[in-house]
Amino acid sequence: MYKHLIDAAHAARANAYAPYSKFSVGAALLSKSGQIFCGGNVENISLGLTICAERTCVVIALAKGQREFEAIAIVSDSAIPVVPCGACRQVLAEFSPNLHLISATLNGMTEEFELGILLPKPKQGILA
Ligand code: THU
Repeated sequence: MYKHLIDAAHAARANAYAPYSKFSVGAALLSKSGQIFCGGNVENISLGLTICAERTCVVIALAKGQREFEAIAIVSDSAIPVVPCGACRQVLAEFSPNLHLISATLNGMTEEFELGILLPKPKQGILA
């Protein structure tokens, strides 16, 4: 399931910019309209400015006019599949609180998550 999305995330990993951690991550975001938006992590020498692969995809998709998403695949070279950080969970939830996540390692291990489980109560409303 979602093999095409994992393949797209795998390919996107090649363009990750991760000179500091040396941990390249690729992600591919599937819109409800069926389009796929890909990207990798973009690190910065000021480490806190680093953008994870998941957020790169969201920004690219938004720039192309897409705001509703079905699933995201994430690929990294780790012993176990990565789970998105809290910042990415919140950014993903802004658009698709019920997003399906598929995380895969280079050696083929996969794990699937629901964003609603990873972030059960996303921040809503700017005043409260
Ligand atoms: N990273 C991602 O891009 N996505 C994840 O889900 C996990 C971590 C990046 C951020 C940083 O550039 C590097 O991996 C090490 O944490």
